[in-house]
Amino acid sequence: MEIFENINDFIYHLNFVKSIPLFWFRVIIGFLTVLSLIYLSKIWLSYRFFKKLGLKTPKYRFFYGNQLELIQNNNYSEILTEWTKLYGKTFGYYEGHFPIVVSSDLEFLQEVFIKQSTNFSARKKIFVSRDEDAPEHALFTASRNRWKKMRSIMNPTFSSAKLRELGPLLILCADRLKQVLDSQNEKEINITQFFKRFTMDSIWNCAFGVDIDFQNNADNIYFKRCEALFEFLSKPNILLFIGNYFHEFLDPFMEVILFLEKFLSQFIDFTRINPILWFMNHVFEIVEIRQKGNIVKKDYLQLLINCQTLTTIEVKQNLALFMIAGYETTSIALTYACYCLAKYQDEQAKVYEAIIQQFDSEEEINSDNVQEVEYLDMFVKEVLRYYPTGTSIISRRCTNSTTVKGIDIAEGLVVAVDVLSLHQDADLWGPVDPKEFYPPRHAVKRNPLAFWSFGNGPRNCIGMKFAFLELKIALSKMLFNFEILPLKNMNEELELFEAFVRRPKYDVNVTLRKRN
Ligand code: HEM
Ligand SMILES: *[C@@H]1O[C@H](CO)[C@@H](O)[C@H](O)[C@H]1NC(C)=O
Ligand SMILES: *[C@@H]1O[C@H](CO)[C@@H](O)[C@H](O)[C@H]1NC(C)=O
Ligand SMILES: *[C@@H]1O[C@H](CO)[C@@H](O)[C@H](O)[C@H]1NC(C)=O
Ligand SMILES: *[C@@H]1O[C@H](CO)[C@@H](O)[C@H](O)[C@H]1NC(C)=O
Ligand SMILES: *[C@@H]1O[C@H](CO)[C@@H](O)[C@H](O)[C@H]1NC(C)=O
Repeated sequence: MEIFENINDFIYHLNFVKSIPLFWFRVIIGFLTVLSLIYLSKIWLSYRFFKKLGLKTPKYRFFYGNQLELIQNNNYSEILTEWTKLYGKTFGYYEGHFPIVVSSDLEFLQEVFIKQSTNFSARKKIFVSRDEDAPEHALFTASRNRWKKMRSIMNPTFSSAKLRELGPLLILCADRLKQVLDSQNEKEINITQFFKRFTMDSIWNCAFGVDIDFQNNADNIYFKRCEALFEFLSKPNILLFIGNYFHEFLDPFMEVILFLEKFLSQFIDFTRINPILWFMNHVFEIVEIRQKGNIVKKDYLQLLINCQTLTTIEVKQNLALFMIAGYETTSIALTYACYCLAKYQDEQAKVYEAIIQQFDSEEEINSDNVQEVEYLDMFVKEVLRYYPTGTSIISRRCTNSTTVKGIDIAEGLVVAVDVLSLHQDADLWGPVDPKEFYPPRHAVKRNPLAFWSFGNGPRNCIGMKFAFLELKIALSKMLFNFEILPLKNMNEELELFEAFVRRPKYDVNVTLRKRN
């Protein structure tokens, strides 16, 4: 290889360029340079945004904004809370050069999430989402009228009456949980793994109508593939990078990726590489088999099919969403709950007392009466207040420019919530210190905007009632049969880790003892 003196020399030696006159090459290079300079100045100007709006911001860096600090340490929610202390209840920060407003001001949030929710009918774009109006959007990422229509069709599918139909399946899965735990009496076990398989079992049964019995098959390939899906989602990737630092190009880039994928899939089997594709294809197949076979089952897929007003794409995408939105959130909430039961033994005694007050035998537990155990309800709410799991997914994007509490909000601006500040606010949760784990605080009626574990307003978590039901059934079956022994290291704080979902950094180990 020769060493080239300068760039023109180098270009001259490239064969394919030889045919292009040097003049045109310079023109192209010059043109690209100008475009880059224009883009750089656009980035530069973006950072004036919050100054003009009159909101404070933490110190940011050119190009990165505040993003490095936010994603490097996996403590996004804690950082927002720290910023609130420094910059007030409503402030701004930059993801790359994309501005985000953060608030823990009740009046401000009341406007955005409730009163003016029609002016905020979209979420922050996430890296897996594509063009706003694409028919592939499921409820979580859909925007404007598409979201509104879909949500009003789907709301009834999550009503208490419809959930009752799923009750027997949840009981089946909870019985299996009890069964597998039975053989682990007085042994130290990794309870996180048991809850994961329980939740996976519940979703495949309740949503897809497929009984794989993950709990008795720890090494099941479907379980591993679904787990891989979540690992894939929480890892950094090129789309996330583009979304963070070149947000203007996210939509076109996504379209290019999808096009390439479609084209190359003739030659390469992407479902082997990309767990999302494997999962989607699998769910799609389940829907097709159901629709062709004229099979009627009592599961969530049936409820979606019965809606009739949903297109086949919408049924498929929303069914898949059940897993993506409902798996980690629920299994992690169970882990937190079990950790609290082990750590606060007096609370465990109270929840157990409340359960045996309600039920003479385990067989009595069903999806109606489990909701009537008041202390269990307060306990679950306190677990979710103390350890909110979905803090970073709560956001609203302005779809119709407006003014909120005197602040001009332009179309496209994203509002996020500082959940921890609200969950730890003594005015909202006192008089007992919010830093204390204290279920009876939920006996007092609180401001609805004090609790954010499921978001708020017409776009809150649609699976909330289902999640409560699942948590309560699993916990009552478990406590009815087992005592959870005190943790080995009682005084250690649980170390957390936040990437999408805010979860314990390490799996939780506990020891169970059978009750007589
Ligand atoms: C303990 C368990 C769960 C937690 C903590 C949780 C939390 C959340 C949160 C914080 C949001 C955002 C709400 C907002 O922006 O205001 C959300 C949205 C959502 N969740 Fe859940 N979730 C749980 C279980 C489930 C389950 C089991 C499903 C089953 C379908 C589900 C489906 C959804 C959907 C579809 C959305 C989007 C709603 C929309 O945009 O209209 N979630 N969830
Ligand atoms: C976030 O994590 C980093 C690294 O562990 C730590 O230095 C920082 O203090 C944490 N921030 C907050 C607000 O907890
Ligand atoms: C947790 O329990 C498992 C046994 O199920 C054991 O192998 C592991 O070492 C335990 N982990 C810790 C951190 O104690
Ligand atoms: C914004 O809202 C007003 C009335 O509330 C409506 O007339 C207008 O069409 C909306 N604009 C957009 C872009 O949706
Ligand atoms: C939405 O914003 C417009 C201003 O663009 C405002 O006039 C209207 O009242 C807002 N909608 C609601 C429901 O407050
Ligand atoms: C729990 O189990 C998983 C998978 O078997 C393992 O990777 C993890 O290290 C375990 N955690 C603890 C605390 O033992």
